[in-house]
Amino acid sequence: MSHVVVTGAEGFVGQVLVRRLLNDGLNGRPVRRLSLMDVRFAAPPADERVRQIEGSIADPAVRARAYDGAVDAVFHLASVPGGAAEKNYELGREINLDATLGLLEDLRAQAQPPRFVFASTIAVYGEHLPAEVDEHTLPNPGLSYGAHKLAGEYLVADATRKGWVQGCSLRLPGVVARPGEGVGMMSAFMSLLFWKLAAGEPLTVPVSREGVAWWISVGACVDNLLHAATVDPARLDPRRSYQMPVLRLTVGELVTALARRFGADREALVTYQPDPFIEKLFAAYPPLATPQALALGLVNDGDIQTLITRAMAD
Ligand SMILES: NC(=O)c1ccc[n+]([C@@H]2O[C@H](COP(=O)([O-])OP(=O)(O)OC[C@H]3O[C@@H](n4cnc5c(N)ncnc54)[C@H](O)[C@@H]3O)[C@@H](O)[C@H]2O)c1
Repeated sequence: MSHVVVTGAEGFVGQVLVRRLLNDGLNGRPVRRLSLMDVRFAAPPADERVRQIEGSIADPAVRARAYDGAVDAVFHLASVPGGAAEKNYELGREINLDATLGLLEDLRAQAQPPRFVFASTIAVYGEHLPAEVDEHTLPNPGLSYGAHKLAGEYLVADATRKGWVQGCSLRLPGVVARPGEGVGMMSAFMSLLFWKLAAGEPLTVPVSREGVAWWISVGACVDNLLHAATVDPARLDPRRSYQMPVLRLTVGELVTALARRFGADREALVTYQPDPFIEKLFAAYPPLATPQALALGLVNDGDIQTLITRAMAD
């Protein structure tokens, strides 16, 4: 593996993935060239292997700049978040659906089909969840964001069948702990719990203490993205789509574990003001069984203290 493309490289997951690719390579082999795509970059690259391609992945001319030299792997992380895509349908469709198809069609020109890892989402399940979700649960997205991501999964499987890419879609749960305040993000409370309680600052969350979410640290999430790009393709299910394994925890369980880590006074810093809409979207998740994903080598954090360590380490 030597030339890797990452879309959405300036995002929360993208930045951690890029650091891992530069430090550890892919599948034990160094990355010779890393082509990063995003609408803008905060700083010029600090590593000579990195090329920054600024602009929208909706623009074929911008995308074409990434294929300068054969491509070995693409991590497609760029997206318009659910809330923003709901407010601006055209933008969501253009980035979350059309650009995904555009990328896959572009890769037809490669002599060898590159590995293609697509960041899908648990939003594909929608709000009418069964009592237990497993790998046979039919998705039923409740937002255009989830519908477009689900369509992207099918497009990745179809492009794989056609031999354009060696694809794999992974459905990401709530990835923690995103730095910053997460302004405008409905799920911001999930990451803020970590940073605010570590800093000893008060926090009001829009969910109940009993609310249950599916959690993964950004470190374990990136482990899974890298694994999806390197696992023997013959082991992948023809659907080419997997639910990432998760830790299923109540908000209260996480707060208690954070208090164990950072100080017993932390419990009292959290005020619970449930908003029924947010509770339903982010804190009402049933048990989840992912035996196929685990057998493939995909991971969750294992236990709550490891989740906290890995969420805050990156
Ligand atoms: N973080 C989570 O909890 C979570 C959960 C489920 C799914 N996901 C998915 O995982 C992926 C990565 O998530 P994240 O948290 O890093 O997201 P993020 O919003 O932090 O990063 C996405 C990046 O994509 C970029 N982008 C948006 N439009 C673009 C365009 N037109 N052209 C080029 N770049 C564009 C943004 O500038 C941003 O840097 C996304 O596809 C997201 O849908 C994330």
